Amino acid sequence: MELAENISAEELFSVSIDSLHFIRKAPCDLYRCNRSGEYVLFVAQHGDLVRPVIDRLQFHGTEHLYVRVEDSAFYSQLLRARLEDLVHNPNVDAAVKARAVQAACRDAMRRAFDDPRGPFIKHACDVIVPTVDLIVNNEQATKYLVRLTAFDHATYIHSTNVGIFGVALARLFFGSGRSHDMHNLGTGFFLHDLGKCRIPIEILNKPGPLTTEERLVINCHVEEGYNILAENGIITDEARTITLEHHEKDDGAGYPHGKLGADIHPYARICRLADIYEALTAERPYHQKRTSFEALKLMKDKEVTDVDQGLFAQFVRLFLG
Ligand SMILES: [Fe+2]
Repeated sequence: MELAENISAEELFSVSIDSLHFIRKAPCDLYRCNRSGEYVLFVAQHGDLVRPVIDRLQFHGTEHLYVRVEDSAFYSQLLRARLEDLVHNPNVDAAVKARAVQAACRDAMRRAFDDPRGPFIKHACDVIVPTVDLIVNNEQATKYLVRLTAFDHATYIHSTNVGIFGVALARLFFGSGRSHDMHNLGTGFFLHDLGKCRIPIEILNKPGPLTTEERLVINCHVEEGYNILAENGIITDEARTITLEHHEKDDGAGYPHGKLGADIHPYARICRLADIYEALTAERPYHQKRTSFEALKLMKDKEVTDVDQGLFAQFVRLFLG
């Protein structure tokens, strides 16, 4: 192993080992962090990614490898291309496809939330495309993806899960026609809460009840999310609608505009439904995690009585079987 001279964590972009499972040759230099916290070259560009060696690293607890930030765009395009190959390969098992896109999404979303600079948001958008394709085209893989959502619940995981639920519900609700751009919708669902990265972390993670002022600060995440996407040239009509309207409620008690009923776009309603379910099933400091059944029952009885019942019935279908 070669020591990478003077390379620091800031110069590197972490990639989950799970997302490399189907890449045979290193697209660029890949580094790993050794026990002393130093970054060492693991495989040079074009070198073979030997499966047993990677499995052994994972067995010993290594979850990430690293690429240089300047290689991130290249890595991102390659990852997208490989994921697209994988998603459309009829010989690959649905569970393998689901694990690969989920790992890549989790990675990309964590990076976008930690450091919402253009290249990292674009990386997330690159990974969202094959993920949406998988959900739209493969019912079995969607079921695996929905099951995989039941683990961790940091903000970026929450967003990944809402993205998966949102695309899956849109696919069920709108059918498989071409009248809705599922890729643009996917970007909106996955990045709906991106504005939270501009909200002070002590307010975002406050364990107790929020003051009125703190609540107002958190509410700003909808406009901030729109701003980040617009500043980076990623905004679409779908993403604008979803980021700005996903906290509006039929009774006018939502924000930022207190819109009423029919004025709220169905895309935003889908996102809200996914958002509520994800929040109820998450481990949070202020409430106990609920099972899928408990969350759906609570939503039916109390939380979403203002939501289109046809939409809710389709949502429940995602968790059957
Ligand atoms: Fe939100």
